Amino acid sequence: MMQSLQFKEKNIKANLKGKDFLTINDLSSDEIMYLLTVAEELKQLQKQGIPHEELKGKVLGMIFEKSSTRTRVSFEVAMLQLGGHALFLSSKDIQLGRGETVEDTANVLSGYLDGVMIRTFGHDTIERFANASSIPVINGLTDLHHPAQILADLLTILEHKGYLKGLKAAYFGDGNNVAHSLIEGAAKVGMHFSIACPEGYEPDESILTKAKEIAKETGSIIEVTTNPVIAVNEADVIITDVWASMGQEEEQEERKGVFEPYQVNEELCIKANEKYIFMHCLPAHRGEEVTTGIIDGPHSVVYQEAENRLHAQKALLKILLKS
Ligand code: CP
Ligand code: NVA
Repeated sequence: MMQSLQFKEKNIKANLKGKDFLTINDLSSDEIMYLLTVAEELKQLQKQGIPHEELKGKVLGMIFEKSSTRTRVSFEVAMLQLGGHALFLSSKDIQLGRGETVEDTANVLSGYLDGVMIRTFGHDTIERFANASSIPVINGLTDLHHPAQILADLLTILEHKGYLKGLKAAYFGDGNNVAHSLIEGAAKVGMHFSIACPEGYEPDESILTKAKEIAKETGSIIEVTTNPVIAVNEADVIITDVWASMGQEEEQEERKGVFEPYQVNEELCIKANEKYIFMHCLPAHRGEEVTTGIIDGPHSVVYQEAENRLHAQKALLKILLKS
């Protein structure tokens, strides 16, 4: 038994080394669960002040085409705590922002760095970057996916509930990048996922179809509804995100009207499992997608969720970047 576990771990490590992480679907269910175990171990080492400099001498480049607090700081601190270094590369300051091609940038940076984390708009940009580069490329958010966030979310749920398979998570609002990665994550780990969103703001059809196929194997039910009351029923985890994502600022006012019935508030949450936890990737708009009473209330785990970005990403970096 012990031997087969060690064999499995060895295989997972070998398979992930040097790989890109662009979507949750880049990982198998076993790989996700393994990363969460490593994240928890690294979290304990850090809490106990035990050094774990597994990436000594390694350098991660971090290209940002959009703003960030958590992603930027957690990836940078992750590299520091692992004994490596991180370089913040604003697209405004590098030649990419002046029209140098994604492919030239990827090729050149591959000669200097051990890995790249990118936050950009179109998901095709990060795919082009990954195709052209010879080092691991990590998605720090695109318009379509936010997989690093969801590793931290799964870690947080696991810490609170002790397991993932068979739980029910409910998401309210826009079928956006965070929703897409949550759908993929839930399907992979066998967690039921119900998403309530207004007509016209549903998640991407092809992401849903693929997730439903995976869900059949893992035993989870993925459901999309326009009715928040259906989604919240018996939910163990309640999740929301901003109504207008980065790049959609001009739609902000219009979206407020459309999304109002999907606000996570006291009236909605009372219908959830009484031990529900509330999650939000942050930044949040209190009074819009969530009331102050819920996000600052006793069920909210948003700061732990934010901290877990650090621990989950350390696990990811350790496995992808290690020589
Ligand atoms: N949740 C998240 O990705 O936050 P930032 O935009 O601050 O990085
Ligand atoms: N959906 C949000 C997430 C921010 C972390 C956005 O893309 O702006």
